[in-house]
Amino acid sequence: MRIYIEKNPEDASQKAAKLVIGLLKSKPDAVLGLATGGTPVRLYRELINANARGEISFKSVETFNLDEYVGLSPRDKNSYRRFMDENLFNLIDIDKSKTHVLDGTASDIAAACADFEKSIALAGGIDLQILGLGSDGHIGFNEPGSSFDSRTRLEYLTEKTIVDNARFFDGDKSKVPTSAITMGIATIMEAGKIALLAFGGKKSDAVKAMVEGDVDESVPASVLRKHPDVSIFLDTAAASKLSPDIYREILSAPRD
Ligand code: GLP
Repeated sequence: MRIYIEKNPEDASQKAAKLVIGLLKSKPDAVLGLATGGTPVRLYRELINANARGEISFKSVETFNLDEYVGLSPRDKNSYRRFMDENLFNLIDIDKSKTHVLDGTASDIAAACADFEKSIALAGGIDLQILGLGSDGHIGFNEPGSSFDSRTRLEYLTEKTIVDNARFFDGDKSKVPTSAITMGIATIMEAGKIALLAFGGKKSDAVKAMVEGDVDESVPASVLRKHPDVSIFLDTAAASKLSPDIYREILSAPRD
């Protein structure tokens, strides 16, 4: 696990963008795993700018999104399909038919999940998975207690996640869907590389648990310590609860 601590989310996002840009330069037909939420927006802006400058192209890129709310149609303003269209896909030269976001209104969710897994395999697997971090330690919508062997499936959201995400639903937690379809932990762990971003003091407990706690299903993100190629991009607020020894070790590690 390589951990980078930058002074603010902008610098951390720039650093993460370099990783994505480097991959797309060396593999223009890369398969990307993408995340939604507030965290990756700055990273997506960096990628949009790099695309506009002609530094990278998404023409041959295929993408798979981590998750989607059950019950929201792709056109709903809070659906993750809509989020991705508005924050990335509509602003780059990607072929939309190569962007996969689970459909929260699928009549047969189990079949939709199985198809999604098949499409990932058909694409040759995910080269780089982008992740945010839930304040309860979730990745995708894999809530605490999710099996490390889990694959794409229906998952019920914790009260903490519902409260956290109410800000996207006019601050009204009763409007937040109570379940979602999410890539499983085993699905995420099969990505060649993983980049997790976490910003702000609200993530500091989850960051500490992920980096320093036990590798345990009660903290889904802790599984990342078992992956051979993970980069974690933090701002100082998200890193603020790391123990001084670990913090020093991170800051003294060779930087690239
Ligand atoms: C949401 C999403 C996750 C996201 C996380 C953090 O519930 N399902 O994929 O990474 O929680 O969200 P945010 O970046 O808005 O803090």
